[in-house]
Amino acid sequence: MRTSVLHTAQPAAATTAPSTATDRVSVCVVGAGSGVAPRHIEAFGEHPATAVDALIESDPARAELLRARHPGIAVTDRLPAAPRGAPGLAVVCVPDAAHTDVVTRCLDAGWHVLCEKPLTDDPEAAERLFALAEDAGLHLAVAYQRRFMLEDLHQRVADGAIGRLHCVNARWLRRAGHPESRRGLDRRGSGVRGDLIPHLLSQGLPFLGPGPLSVQARDWRVGDGWATEDVARLIARGPEGIELQVDVAYDAPHLDRPDDCWVELHGGLGSIHAELPTHQDAEWAAAHPPVLYPRTGTPERLAPLRTTAECHLLQADRIVRSLAAGPAPAADRDRELALVRTMAAAQASALHQGPIIQV
Ligand SMILES: NC(=O)c1ccc[n+]([C@@H]2O[C@H](COP(=O)([O-])OP(=O)(O)OC[C@H]3O[C@@H](n4cnc5c(N)ncnc54)[C@H](O)[C@@H]3O)[C@@H](O)[C@H]2O)c1
Repeated sequence: MRTSVLHTAQPAAATTAPSTATDRVSVCVVGAGSGVAPRHIEAFGEHPATAVDALIESDPARAELLRARHPGIAVTDRLPAAPRGAPGLAVVCVPDAAHTDVVTRCLDAGWHVLCEKPLTDDPEAAERLFALAEDAGLHLAVAYQRRFMLEDLHQRVADGAIGRLHCVNARWLRRAGHPESRRGLDRRGSGVRGDLIPHLLSQGLPFLGPGPLSVQARDWRVGDGWATEDVARLIARGPEGIELQVDVAYDAPHLDRPDDCWVELHGGLGSIHAELPTHQDAEWAAAHPPVLYPRTGTPERLAPLRTTAECHLLQADRIVRSLAAGPAPAADRDRELALVRTMAAAQASALHQGPIIQV
């Protein structure tokens, strides 16, 4: 059932066939002991054109667990050189602060890279990484799997289902509290701003269209003992006047309740309300389909959004196709750089009590 998503929901931009077994992509996962790594191991293990050949983990105890869980995959604490004669993809799952260093080392060793989000919140560092990849003829992509949830809604809006789009509201209230891996991080941008906001930007910014943005943001620290920001707000305005408002928060732990995560799209002829799955639950996604509310007429239930697992598989498929198609598309680089610049502008704006910053 999982692989069927590759047949039933092909990415809109994919026009070439995926790689075949003969030019199979060899995948190594760096930081394989992280919480997000199993999703990549599962997706690249399932994809017919890829194989997970190495797991890189610097923590000996986590490496031991990986050996027990994946007896057929080499587990090591050293990044190997990329394979010769076949594409090699390093999936970087180390903590945010190590992304720049680890991505640089992977590119230097000849690996194409899929880096976990956020690549960085430093636009100059992001530009250097993309320049390094381009000079080496390698692909650098960022793992925003949740982009694939909203592809159908993008198409609906482009087809005029709600008329001219005016604004997008996006919200993520994380009910599991402040994540353990983000405790003790005292640098601003390491809390909700580095965690939840990049996801919602990856989903919301494409609605604003290409071109310069203006960004205004605030954040607050509300939890005793939590060292980074817990609540944040961001408004980005696109060149056509479309406005994206993002609100995110870590709630005190209420593990009995699902996260509150949704996107609303408001246009001249109606709106679309979409609750977004935040866990691997196909039943939940099926029970909470997005709804189109026309200004006149009856509401329409739309097709269920893709689950997290389906999004990870499509993300794997997209990068396989991109590697098979040739040089990395400049549009993908520009999209990632716009996201990093928006994060940086939001951070600067929040530090100065919300001035508007052009990016
Ligand atoms: N896409 C998503 O939905 C999603 C979800 C959660 C986390 N993330 C991202 O994934 C990344 C990891 O987050 P996490 O909370 O799972 O982190 P984590 O701290 O739990 O795990 C990171 C792992 O990397 C290992 N590591 C650190 N430096 C290393 C190195 N140089 N070489 C090899 N291994 C190294 C650590 O030992 C650890 O096992 C972050 O960038 C985070 O933002 C993405």
